[in-house]
Amino acid sequence: MKITKAIIPVAGKGTRFLPATKQLPKEMLPILNVPMIHHVVKEAVDSGIEEIIFVTSSGKESIENYFDRNFELEMFLEKAGKHDYLEMIKNIGQMVNIRTVRQKEQLGLGHAVLMGKTGISDGESFAVLLGDDLIVSEKPATKQLMEVSAARNNSSVIAVMEVPNEETSKYGIVAGEKLDEKTLKMTKMVEKPDPEDAPTNLATPGRYILNKEIFDILEEIPRGAGGEYQLTDAINVLATRKDVFSYTFDGERFDTGSVKGYLNATMEFALRDPELKSYAMDIMQEKLNRYKG
Ligand code: G1P
Repeated sequence: MKITKAIIPVAGKGTRFLPATKQLPKEMLPILNVPMIHHVVKEAVDSGIEEIIFVTSSGKESIENYFDRNFELEMFLEKAGKHDYLEMIKNIGQMVNIRTVRQKEQLGLGHAVLMGKTGISDGESFAVLLGDDLIVSEKPATKQLMEVSAARNNSSVIAVMEVPNEETSKYGIVAGEKLDEKTLKMTKMVEKPDPEDAPTNLATPGRYILNKEIFDILEEIPRGAGGEYQLTDAINVLATRKDVFSYTFDGERFDTGSVKGYLNATMEFALRDPELKSYAMDIMQEKLNRYKG
């Protein structure tokens, strides 16, 4: 079964990035000249996703506008003879079909994902990608999960990565029965446990393939950690009803919702860009010499 839809929640307030996010959606903050959300949507598209369902809130209109055509800008670039930019802008507007649904109250990630229910057909599985998590990998992380899902009877699959024990309280943590070096059959998923309560140090970076049954569970679960409806809690219930797998994906994840993670991603992207690499190394070296010690 081909997975063609992705739900991307973008309704969050971005408090960790104030004051920039007072007016600007955090998802539109750029890593160099590319908005963060572009990277996440590109991961989905490169994985075979054909339709994105953005779960938005007021003030987030620039995200859908970004993925729409902008004929005025296209005409301007055409007249100015700036054909490279014209192609780039047209391609973004044609990248993928976008739908938006509003999350009128921010009641948690589980609630946000539930808002996407109407866009998913019966029996259809879908991807969820969180915009705060940027993953750099050879094969897109979502594609890696899709392949595991296809090999495992179209089951739900959650991406995981190892984190230091003291960081378990920042993530959904997974435990299960080891099937191979990278795959677990999940027995449990807990949202943001303290290190002493964490069953493992396998954390999810916000990439999921989910069966549609998750919506029935999301409609039933009580509020969980932080008083919010947690996707993690629903996945934990799903794992008692059906096979759910976790997969240690190949790639590096950046928490671009935090200032430190954003700085890390920006440096990484500068060093990966052949036109910026030597400039970036020179200025970093110069700053190291100036500020070290
Ligand atoms: C959310 C999820 C959590 C996941 C994390 C990844 O938490 O609830 O399970 O590990 O994203 O970034 P948040 O960071 O939105 O609090």
